[in-house]
Amino acid sequence: MDSTQLLALPVLLTLLHPSPTASVAVSTGKAKVVAHENSNAVLSCEFKTEKDPDPRIEWKKSGKGITFVYFEGNFREPYAGRADIDGATVTLHSVTQKDSGVYRCEVTAKLDRVPLGEINVTLNVLVPPHTPSCEVPETVLSGSAVELHCKDKLSVPPATYSWYKDNKPLAPGHTPDSHYSLDTHTGALKFKAVAKADAGHYRCESSNDVGPPKSCAGHNMKVKEFELSLPLLIAVGAGAFLLLLLCCLGVCLCYRRGCCCCCRRRQSEFFSLPCSPWQPHTLLAALLQPS
Ligand SMILES: *[C@@H]1O[C@H](CO)[C@@H](O)[C@H](O)[C@H]1NC(C)=O
Repeated sequence: MDSTQLLALPVLLTLLHPSPTASVAVSTGKAKVVAHENSNAVLSCEFKTEKDPDPRIEWKKSGKGITFVYFEGNFREPYAGRADIDGATVTLHSVTQKDSGVYRCEVTAKLDRVPLGEINVTLNVLVPPHTPSCEVPETVLSGSAVELHCKDKLSVPPATYSWYKDNKPLAPGHTPDSHYSLDTHTGALKFKAVAKADAGHYRCESSNDVGPPKSCAGHNMKVKEFELSLPLLIAVGAGAFLLLLLCCLGVCLCYRRGCCCCCRRRQSEFFSLPCSPWQPHTLLAALLQPS
């Protein structure tokens, strides 16, 4: 047998034994469609019926439940007015991220033996980077842990992030000699202990392959040294004094209730001193029980 005979054999077999399910045949030129935002997307659907010259064509979109796209010869909301059909192939105009999903082309040929044929077309709408939201604290305390955040939720595929300090790019990742870590996928820039030298203008950029990168305006971050001021000293001093006073009161009450008799005994043993009447607890007792 030469090669022509080899090729002819399967064709001959098919002709001799027509498939018992010969019926409406539905196919697509492209099962996975990728379209940029605001461009047109062609959802291809081709069919061939056995007998039926005028089959019913329906397009549905599956997501949260099934919605009609094309039904009874018309496009349904939200496709009405922004879609065309040619044969069974649909063109969606000016697609948005909301149009992403799985579309099903169903062809019903009532006169055919197996009347229903269907194919799925997956549409993925790509979205270029949007201006990210940047979270930069205004003032931080030197030595404290600080996190800066950057997010662009809209871009498809998800954006990667880079940070700039005073318009100079910060190296991503975490190097042993850098005291910050930068995650290009989450957009987080983290300082374990922020230093005076970290003060500056921070901005972040989101990128994906679909369009040009976008940057937020950015913010200034000030780093404050922890300094002792007079009001702070006074406040700390007053706090300590109050705490001491409370402790004293607590101890005195303890003495008065006799729950610390053991301590008292030990104290007396130690210092060989009896409890003298001028001790604080006696004073308090006198104050609390004037009778
Ligand atoms: C199309 O997808 C649906 C689910 O979304 C599935 O039930 C159906 O079998 C698929 N059809 C084909 C021809 O792949």
